[in-house]
Amino acid sequence: MIITADNDYRGLDEWLKGKKKVMLVCDSSIAFLQAFNEKLGRIKTAMVRFSDFQPNPLYSSVTAGVKLLREEGCDSIMAVGGGSAMDVAKCIKLYADCPGDGEQGEWLKHAAVPADLPFLAMPTTAGTGSEATRYAVVYFDGAKQSITHEGFIPDTVLMDPDALKTLPLYQKKATMCDALCHAVESFWSVNSTEESKAFSREAIKEVMANMEGYLANTPEGRAGMLMAANVAGRAINITQTTAGHAMCYKITSLFGCAHGHAAMLCDRILFPWMIENTDKCIDPRGEAYLKVTLDELGKALGGRDAKEGADILKKIFEKLAFEIPAADSGQIMELTAGVNPDRLKNHPLLLDKDTINGLYKKIFAV
Ligand SMILES: [Fe+2]
Repeated sequence: MIITADNDYRGLDEWLKGKKKVMLVCDSSIAFLQAFNEKLGRIKTAMVRFSDFQPNPLYSSVTAGVKLLREEGCDSIMAVGGGSAMDVAKCIKLYADCPGDGEQGEWLKHAAVPADLPFLAMPTTAGTGSEATRYAVVYFDGAKQSITHEGFIPDTVLMDPDALKTLPLYQKKATMCDALCHAVESFWSVNSTEESKAFSREAIKEVMANMEGYLANTPEGRAGMLMAANVAGRAINITQTTAGHAMCYKITSLFGCAHGHAAMLCDRILFPWMIENTDKCIDPRGEAYLKVTLDELGKALGGRDAKEGADILKKIFEKLAFEIPAADSGQIMELTAGVNPDRLKNHPLLLDKDTINGLYKKIFAV
């Protein structure tokens, strides 16, 4: 269920009814949420704050969160923040009923059943759509752990456009592009369905309609972008992401670009390349289906066909004035070696090492 901040957060008051103690999992963005903080000051329900985590959260933060939740006897969870706050809160819900204290990665070894705790999420960026997905990522012993569970998707999402008011412009642009890339990649994913495509179309429409207003910081623009990111999240919740995301993670770690910036660097090159190489189709629905899909995507983006859609994506990238980092040949090789092959399976075209290498060269114009 989606609730809003209208009428002094009446939806939140409703959600809090019957709850005695809420675990508030929040990152540092909460400090900037003036109206929400004032509301928290008026709420009578006890709140236990947990902020002991970082971007790319550690598994040890999850075990610390579960320990606190148990000690305090919290009966519900509220996550306020970006993707990391959502990931930590999801994992706290997932492991809260697991035996023991989870030391040495114990909880990662077995399938877990999420605790029956009401879970509200309030995103403070409009991009990841994490509040709508069954995915979470934590790091254990330096290794990325991708955790998937339908049962830890928040039951309620609080959309407060004011939460995006003070986001720095670069972060707004990058998170918006993350949402757009989710919608685009979901649309061409081999896992796409009629339902996921409808979510993608809606998300693309919302991003396009609200881009100007969002970047100009209007309340309508912020509200629209929150919805766009959420709907794009629902699309990837069905399909997962594809090659653009598989190729973008290492760009972030090598050059420090924000995730959405890195994803857009990739998708603006991938899309036109895909149009020219549909003979490499591995989607079981076939090449003819893929061609139609790419044309439909082009239309969703506002063009007459795939090619015009790809041009529109490229123009958005240029208009946002994103930097293209300078990559040397060693870094191109490192990027090529660093692509997660699992995610490539969702991509509708076969991408071998040489192809990926060539794409990276185009991405960095080398
Ligand atoms: Fe993403």
